[in-house]
Amino acid sequence: MLISGKKIAKEVFAQIKQELEGEDQKPGLAVVLVGEDPASKIYVSRKHKRAMSLGYHQETHLLSEDTPQEELLTLIDRLNQDEKIHGILVQLPLPNHIDSSLVLKRIKPEKDVDGFHPYNAGLLSQGQGHLIPCTAKGIAVMLESLDIPLSGLHAVVIGRSNIVGRPVAQLLEQHNCTVTLCHSRTQNLNDHLSRADIVVAAVGKANFVHGSALKEDCIVIDVGINRSENGSLCGDVDFDSAREKAKAITPVPGGVGPMTIAMLMKNTLESWKRFHNH
Ligand code: GUN
Repeated sequence: MLISGKKIAKEVFAQIKQELEGEDQKPGLAVVLVGEDPASKIYVSRKHKRAMSLGYHQETHLLSEDTPQEELLTLIDRLNQDEKIHGILVQLPLPNHIDSSLVLKRIKPEKDVDGFHPYNAGLLSQGQGHLIPCTAKGIAVMLESLDIPLSGLHAVVIGRSNIVGRPVAQLLEQHNCTVTLCHSRTQNLNDHLSRADIVVAAVGKANFVHGSALKEDCIVIDVGINRSENGSLCGDVDFDSAREKAKAITPVPGGVGPMTIAMLMKNTLESWKRFHNH
């Protein structure tokens, strides 16, 4: 079975539109991009388009590659104070001369719709997550949509980034999965995979996980968006071989990607609701 993130995301957007009907003060999302990274430009433009289609107030701040760190911090300070803005997102990666962790810490935790501020990361690690990183939250929503009890399942997460792997592992543990967090130094990855009821691949390497390594009837969530040798888009999982083994699998594109944007819109809505005491 295919898990269509696209379809679930559509339902989320419809629900958000319904909630905002008749409201004249709309949620406001500010997206900041520093530099010209082509993939980042695409992601930022998707966020812009979706926010506009939901009637959000949306600002995209495009800063040049050589923007001084102080200038970026000043912009964040201004957005922190701006009452029209309920969510602030700084697209990563940032250029090397900028200290990302300093920048992420400058965003007011109440407006941190990416959930990357250490305060929000800390709440998530204690099981009290409020603004949860969008990709991780989107994966949890997709898994919940399957109507398969997650409790007690063995989940193998590959990748330990703060953006995806680590928060996904925490969320799955909070759904009572037994979680193994694998990474570039993991030995015998295939041993772990052969015992995994759920595999979340967030590695960033085209077709890294082959179906032959998977347990029969597992659930596969593919976070990767890579270009294969022939130029086509592909995930971290070799889709054709994995599909044979898995009982449910996300496609690339149309899987995790749309869910990330859906959860960003949801987090922005939640910040807006908090601000207006809804
Ligand atoms: N770069 C890759 N994924 C993300 C994300 O979810 N948020 C931000 N801000 N940057 C990213």
